[in-house]
Amino acid sequence: MSVRIAERMNRMAPSGIRKVNEKALAMERAGETVYHFEIGRPDFDTPAYIKQAACRALEQGKVHYTSNFGLMELRQAIADKLKRENGVEYKATEVLVTVGLSEAVFAVLATILNEGDEILVPDPVWLNYINVPNLLGAKAVTYGLKEETGFQLDLDEIRAKVTDRTRAVVIVTPNNPTGGVLEENVLQELAEIAREHDLMVLSDEIYERLVYDGAKHISIASLPGMKERTFTLNGMSKAYAMDGWRLGYVAAPEEYILAMNKFHQHNTTCAPSFVQAAAIAALTEEGDEVREMVKEYQRRRDYAVAAINATPGLSCQCPKGAFYIFINCKSLGMKSAELSAWLLENAKIALVPGDVFGPGGEGYLRMSFANSYENIVEGCRRLREAVEQLRSRKEEAK
Ligand SMILES: Cc1ncc(COP(=O)(O)O)c(C=O)c1O
Repeated sequence: MSVRIAERMNRMAPSGIRKVNEKALAMERAGETVYHFEIGRPDFDTPAYIKQAACRALEQGKVHYTSNFGLMELRQAIADKLKRENGVEYKATEVLVTVGLSEAVFAVLATILNEGDEILVPDPVWLNYINVPNLLGAKAVTYGLKEETGFQLDLDEIRAKVTDRTRAVVIVTPNNPTGGVLEENVLQELAEIAREHDLMVLSDEIYERLVYDGAKHISIASLPGMKERTFTLNGMSKAYAMDGWRLGYVAAPEEYILAMNKFHQHNTTCAPSFVQAAAIAALTEEGDEVREMVKEYQRRRDYAVAAINATPGLSCQCPKGAFYIFINCKSLGMKSAELSAWLLENAKIALVPGDVFGPGGEGYLRMSFANSYENIVEGCRRLREAVEQLRSRKEEAK
């Protein structure tokens, strides 16, 4: 029998992050010790009060399908959170509960993009925002995030790239892979562009709780006239260390929620029932758990940023959010992919080549500091030693 895969699958690239991870795991299976800085997932366990809520739900027999939209109590808890923390007033019926934010991205894009439509997405970016529009026959048009501006938006570039086919703009704040947090004046100007050109905004806020040095996360939906043109995308994965639980949500005007629900119904039916129960607890019974995790992320970030900037040949901005450091390695004169492979092979440290997130990421490596402080100390030591070795080889070759 011949294997026949539909042509559309060629429009999606496999994950370059997983490629590094697979290689690192294979090395471990062969008995080597590898320091993992490639995967963007919390290394903390899910807080106990959330696990207990899931266990209670299972014991109570909450094991069946829920409403496709999600449990009304959870939708209300999300609406309350969005009002309390983000300053946007949503009704519970303006919230759709999904299987991770990842599913919400698919639902939103399937709902708003016709074939041939364009959507503006950052470069570099978490790649779903490129792959999903392309799969749907739409076109992801990239705008650059530049290190010189602290990875803020270049609003002139965005303006110049709007055409009569542009349907929406994607923003990710705090950002993966740059760690940048968009400033209020930048968001205000973007909102102006969106209103002027009648664009929707997809605002990915999955890292909103992971902000440092008093940086303030702002939801663009809270700006005047923006709630009706924003899809606020979020979920439990990062802040609550619940990435394996697969729970996300999107808040938007109800007409969109109804349309997206058709996609969601046929895709996943609903998010898992007992996970929804746990998410209600996560949002309504939170103590210091998230704050404690953020404190520890900041401690690791501070160490790693100082160590990287003290390594001749490397430099980085101090990320204001998320748990990534985007390391500038341009002066080493190697392609990111080549350098990442060399570091894994020789120093046993796994870092993601920046070009995996788009051409704008070439010349960078993404380091996740969602790993223990001790491993970060050792990883930075190995990185420094390896880069010194590379530089002295280069000198000798001259
Ligand atoms: C920007 C961004 N959005 C969404 C996700 C995935 O979220 P979820 O686990 O809720 O699907 C990730 C995961 O790395 C991410 O980096």
